[in-house]
Amino acid sequence: MKINITETVLRDANQSLIATRMPFSDFEPILEKIDSAGYYSVECWGGATFDSCLRYLNEDPWERLRKIKSKMKHTKLQMLLRGQNLLGYRHYPDDVVRKFVEHSISNGIDIIRIFDALNDFRNIEVAVAQTLKSGGHAQGAICYTISPIHNIENYVKLGKELEGMGVDSICIKDMSGILGPQEAFDLITALKASVKIPVFLHTHSTTGLGPITYYKAVEAGCDGIDCAISAFGGGTSQPATESLHYALTQAGYDTGLDPEVLKAINDFFLPVKERFIKTGVLEHFVLGSDTNALIYQVPGGMLSNLIAQLKQFNALEKLPEVLQEIPVVRKELGYPPLVTPMSQIVGVQAATNILMGERYKSVSKELRAYLKGEYGRPPGELDAELVKKVLGDEKPFTGRFADTLEPQFEKAKQEIGSLAKSDEDVLSYIAFPQIAEQFLKNREESTAVKVSYTIRKL
Ligand code: CO
Repeated sequence: MKINITETVLRDANQSLIATRMPFSDFEPILEKIDSAGYYSVECWGGATFDSCLRYLNEDPWERLRKIKSKMKHTKLQMLLRGQNLLGYRHYPDDVVRKFVEHSISNGIDIIRIFDALNDFRNIEVAVAQTLKSGGHAQGAICYTISPIHNIENYVKLGKELEGMGVDSICIKDMSGILGPQEAFDLITALKASVKIPVFLHTHSTTGLGPITYYKAVEAGCDGIDCAISAFGGGTSQPATESLHYALTQAGYDTGLDPEVLKAINDFFLPVKERFIKTGVLEHFVLGSDTNALIYQVPGGMLSNLIAQLKQFNALEKLPEVLQEIPVVRKELGYPPLVTPMSQIVGVQAATNILMGERYKSVSKELRAYLKGEYGRPPGELDAELVKKVLGDEKPFTGRFADTLEPQFEKAKQEIGSLAKSDEDVLSYIAFPQIAEQFLKNREESTAVKVSYTIRKL
């Protein structure tokens, strides 16, 4: 039986282990090799790569995509998109979402995995529809979380909803690595019995469960899994590609992968990893297993943020209290999955409640916006008293938030003017106004320098 493997070294592994700091020049020489390995797809764009290219690497993210495409002609290129939030942290209007998706595909993306932090699919419908319209493969993702209201029936319902939207495949997205092997088996079995389209699983090795979870998921009929070449696998990244290839091949599955090519890819990335260790970008703690996430049911990243936050206030001894407060806050907020931005909103509020000695004495503007319905529909019921306390007489918004936003593309195009040489430049500017503007200015200046140098030489 065929099992599809997606390689994540260029995106999620890069993001999870080294904060997406790998420049294009680091992996350019190995792209053709990766292309010949037999992967189902290579996740290479989206998520934090876009932000990181502009902010830290002085790279044009669109140009990076085109260059990858020119060297990878056989393997499908895949990206991760946060639905209506695209690659940023706020809702964009529909015209921007449509243009962004259209240009992602015309610049080389084949598969777009689209999710919403609250699993409110009104926030992914425009991106899904545009992906299909532009000839791409739309993969609808369901954020996996554990709570009293999240159960198999619930996930199956979400899966059917996605299938009804016309997506080409479904992905269960376990960003914290808390999906256990038996849960995965039961969940994938139930989904496969209820939908006709392929079901993929995405997890992280954070808690150490990842490889076992994948194995059981495949036994339940899962169509594809995400792995990272071992140099950049394990820990907060994906389970290692070679290990899963080895184990699944032994059990009679066909991964389509060539182990000799995998070895060459890994040999290439080992010294790259070594360099990131030497420069301190890659820290040892992201490489091991962090089983605390299984006890507290909070993602590893959220726990380290909390610790940092408490240290700032010299109140690390309050950590146990904050960890008890998190599930209470989460319940009052209708059990949102603890993924960006909800992990930050819940974590900050729980810590504030404990540090101030009074619950909800102070609330962030993000929490307020969430209660007002600006992020979408909470998975469960909001606590009525809390809503009243924070919003007063203000009525929460129950519609689709993006419907309240004015079209933005043409306006932004006027704003940025001649600095933008293409629609792609305008989209970079809309996504990250200040840093993209700076990037475009730098590019203009360096081109001017190059031109005057060439003229002098003539
Ligand atoms: Co991930």
